[in-house]
Amino acid sequence: MVAETQKRPPQVEMAEEKNNAAVKSSNRTSLLLLGGVTAIVIVALALGLGLGLGLKHHRHDGAATTNPKTSSAPSPGPTAPSSASESVQSWRRSTLEYDLDMNWDINASPTIRLFNFTISEIQAAPDGILRPLLVINGQFPGPLVRVNRGDRVLVNVTNQLSNGTALHWHGLYQNGTNWMDGTVGVTQCPIPPGTSFLYNFTVESQYGTYWYHSHYSSQYTDGIVGPLIVHAPEEATTRESYDFDQVILLQDWYHDLSAALMPGYLASGNENTEPVPDNGLIQGTNYFNCSLYANDSGYTCQENSTRAVFAVTQGKRYRLRLINTGAFTEFDFSIDNHTLSVVEADSTLVQPVAVTRLPIHVAQRYSVIVYTNQTSTNYWMRAQMITDCFSDDNPVLNPDVQALITYTNTTSEPTDSVDWSTALDLVCKDLSPSMLTPAVVEIAPSPNNAFRIDVSFQIGAYALDRAYINSTTWTAAKDPTLNQAVAGLKADNSTFNALGLSSAFDKASQFVISIPEYQVVDLLINSLDEGAHPFHLHGHQFWIMASGTGDFDWNSYARLNTTNPMRRDTLTIDAYGWTLIRFRADNPGLWALHCHISWHMEAGLLMQFQGRTDLMSHWTIPSDVLALCST
Ligand code: C2O
Repeated sequence: MVAETQKRPPQVEMAEEKNNAAVKSSNRTSLLLLGGVTAIVIVALALGLGLGLGLKHHRHDGAATTNPKTSSAPSPGPTAPSSASESVQSWRRSTLEYDLDMNWDINASPTIRLFNFTISEIQAAPDGILRPLLVINGQFPGPLVRVNRGDRVLVNVTNQLSNGTALHWHGLYQNGTNWMDGTVGVTQCPIPPGTSFLYNFTVESQYGTYWYHSHYSSQYTDGIVGPLIVHAPEEATTRESYDFDQVILLQDWYHDLSAALMPGYLASGNENTEPVPDNGLIQGTNYFNCSLYANDSGYTCQENSTRAVFAVTQGKRYRLRLINTGAFTEFDFSIDNHTLSVVEADSTLVQPVAVTRLPIHVAQRYSVIVYTNQTSTNYWMRAQMITDCFSDDNPVLNPDVQALITYTNTTSEPTDSVDWSTALDLVCKDLSPSMLTPAVVEIAPSPNNAFRIDVSFQIGAYALDRAYINSTTWTAAKDPTLNQAVAGLKADNSTFNALGLSSAFDKASQFVISIPEYQVVDLLINSLDEGAHPFHLHGHQFWIMASGTGDFDWNSYARLNTTNPMRRDTLTIDAYGWTLIRFRADNPGLWALHCHISWHMEAGLLMQFQGRTDLMSHWTIPSDVLALCST
């Protein structure tokens, strides 16, 4: 579903492949080849400039028309040839890669999928503004990781940054491999600069739309994000309801490194004034109007920034897997003149529900099915920022982030495209859980234990504006809490084995609730804050049992609906609101529960569950994981 407006002669395809390969071996060779590629770019720019539209590859209806060289069996490696691009911007990943081949075998027997990820920093301009950008294998956004349930996934990460890094597989259970969860300060030390680390885990008992990102400080905000799709035979029925399967990344975007913005945010006197994004990206790209910055702004603006283009065929059904890979912003997603049928939230398949706008908060995923049954012309896809959740205005920000849907393989500005008249959201809130009914029915089991946490922002030590869970404000532990726990359990230190709020860790910075043996746990997340917070629980899905504002009425506790409530892994806690979640604490290890807004997590809005210490007490953390802490 990714567009090109012009069919390219075969020799261009070849030149690009050579060019792509040449990048690795010899700069000189790739320069020689640039001439041929540039000619195509000029055509692209001539067509796309006024509109700010970009040209992308298009895989036509059915894989048969694709060059066999570029459409061979799904390549697990990062060297998938689809990364060639018409653009001289070789750091831009061709989002052809996110157009999921429908010939993928969901019934294939388990295999090993190896990926090599080299993480580095470059200067690049996703929306026209040049800035330091963190890239994987030289490109942004990150490579597609696509596997089947049961597969073993090996991701060899080489860190070429000057800082540490770590990759988290958002939504994966990692049952039995807690140390592969990628969470700095919880399950590992950062991968030191100049070294490699192998993530090695099996994806079990789950499938759907996930993503991966750096989990070191606010680092993912600077570019280290990518889609992670898990297939399973049970998708067969759902698959009958669509002809194409397209991953779409939505994210807010800053023109400065997050590390440069963080100190100002944490400084006292700035309570809850998160940095306001400068732009938004769809598939890692967008238009930016350079004239919004004065000449002396210090920013270098390239006039050729472009919007994403999606080519569609009339009368087809497209599954769009939306992933909010942003730092702060909730979007209202919509497509002009087309309704959306929601079929998945996070990785939970749901009974189809039709909406015109879909709110999607940071780290959430939704799949919608779109039927291209409208007049054959062009339409806008919109990811509109819910700006009421920003505490400031940003004069350069256009909150209506757009991409083009084209039925006609053109980039002409839509003339009959109409935004829905339904109101945009004025507060950051999830699509009501009552609208979402899991397709696979599960009854929420009775709880063994219930806990309540209070979320707030306060001025803390050094007059920094910090976020608190009860009276703890998280900072990443030098010795990851997992490592502390495994060592403590091995030494028979019983404080690591006690039920409830753990006294085994430094309470000023580590709020850990320990569930030593299997239990079903209720957690009431109660927010005393005026902002909304998209909370994510690692290693589990939870049921959303109830939510509201004010005080939770424990008298209602016995009457909660347990018949198939919505389950997911990331939900929004409303301003001054509470939500009661329930989960099976069946997963051994240390699992973060945190607000996914980069600024808030770094301000301390993270707690942990320690599960199944009865199993953990037999653990030995792999030596390569431990070694990350010894440099
Ligand atoms: Cu997307 Cu702590 O995770």
